[in-house]
Amino acid sequence: MSQPLLFSGNSNPELANEIAKRLKLPGGVGKAIVTKFKNEETRIEIGENVRGSEAFVVQSICKSPNGNGVNDALMELLLMIDALRRASAARITAVIPYYGYAKQDKKTKGREPISAKVVANLLKVTGAERIVTMDLHAAQIQGFFDQPVDNLMAMPVLCNYLKKEGLCDDKIVIVSPDAGGVHRAELFAKRLNSSLAIVFKRRPEPDVSEVTDIVGDVEGKVAVVVDDMISTGGTLAKAAEAIRARGATKVYTVATHGIFAGEAIEVLENSAIERVVITNTIPLENALLHPKFVQLPIAQTFADAILRITTNRSVSELFGDEITPAANGSVATPEPVVVQ
Ligand code: R5P
Repeated sequence: MSQPLLFSGNSNPELANEIAKRLKLPGGVGKAIVTKFKNEETRIEIGENVRGSEAFVVQSICKSPNGNGVNDALMELLLMIDALRRASAARITAVIPYYGYAKQDKKTKGREPISAKVVANLLKVTGAERIVTMDLHAAQIQGFFDQPVDNLMAMPVLCNYLKKEGLCDDKIVIVSPDAGGVHRAELFAKRLNSSLAIVFKRRPEPDVSEVTDIVGDVEGKVAVVVDDMISTGGTLAKAAEAIRARGATKVYTVATHGIFAGEAIEVLENSAIERVVITNTIPLENALLHPKFVQLPIAQTFADAILRITTNRSVSELFGDEITPAANGSVATPEPVVVQ
């Protein structure tokens, strides 16, 4: 198969460009019209020959910088895959840095949908033969697919940043903000050689969280709370308050996906959190105006994974203790660019 082709919808074009640059794709991101008809329906037209090619579509399922909503991003992704399949691409991979609808991965009460499964079904019927994503809200979502899923981790990039800031070893305690995040927090604690604490939270209603207890010692330590995503900011703000009340000297937070829904920026800005570190799986504008927020670039991790997929090399190798350089000499742990 010839060189891969990479296409992008409107939800995170900057990340797609960055991935194409790191893959050294001669034409950069492939030509495509991704817009709307006057009646608001999504309009897609692939602008170059894709016959027999290995095609990647990069699209986070989130709000777009052009103002389009989450559902527009999903529809763009599905229609681009359909267009590529009908144009005879040999293999199509959906690269979904942030997999939206992931929190709706089970019925919590009667008469609710399992929306994360619906998204998986749609990707299947449109023709995505492989999924590349990052830090799925629940790893079990991989089971919603029959196709291969590469669930990448932002952990090496986030840990590198923390180490560079001197936030490692016995100076810090890694904290999971809920029971569901314990495995992720354990991986961070192991890599940073730190202890672990767990916050227990309950959700009395959607988008509202309350801390019920903390297990583990945070007193006199800098706490680093690790989460997969920040939506309303409530989980992290409440956790930080409770951790400080238990005697932690400072609270930092790191998360892969910065959704920042509603008043999240203000909630976090006014919280006990020292710094909010996220990656650019989701584009951010306003958050970066605030000195408390740091965004780390994640394109290299996706570029490395894509390169390994196209050359049939191991992807999981990227996340072992020893990072093996990819064929182009790059590694998945680039120097972070701190945008403040
Ligand atoms: C929950 O299980 C997730 O891992 C996050 O903690 C949660 O989605 C964050 O949501 P919010 O910022 O709205 O509290």
